[in-house]
Amino acid sequence: MLETKRRVIGQMIVCHGCCCGATHKERPEVPAEWLKDEWRRRGLLKRFQLTVSGCVGPCDIPNVVVVNSAAGSQWLGNITRFDQYRSLVEWAVRSVEAGHLLDLPREFKDHVMEPWR
Ligand code: FES
Repeated sequence: MLETKRRVIGQMIVCHGCCCGATHKERPEVPAEWLKDEWRRRGLLKRFQLTVSGCVGPCDIPNVVVVNSAAGSQWLGNITRFDQYRSLVEWAVRSVEAGHLLDLPREFKDHVMEPWR
């Protein structure tokens, strides 16, 4: 098996593609630059991967976020408010401090989605 030196506790993929964050299509904003800045400012780089991505697939639900870790993937949708992205940053900070991904805050329980058939 190949070994990377850049092992992380998880990866957060924030969709910013053809629909998510497409404010010109009257879709809710994705604060992609703010997230990148916050990731850097809060010391999350190298410990929790942030990936701002093109379309990840389920475009009919706005603003998709995917959290990957050794435990699997969690898909969230309808992350439309700035305070939700701020809450994800705070959760990422707490997870890095804990050394593993904590359970997502309860406020996201109604945002969990299943993209697979
Ligand atoms: S643009 Fe986000 S799922 Fe397609």
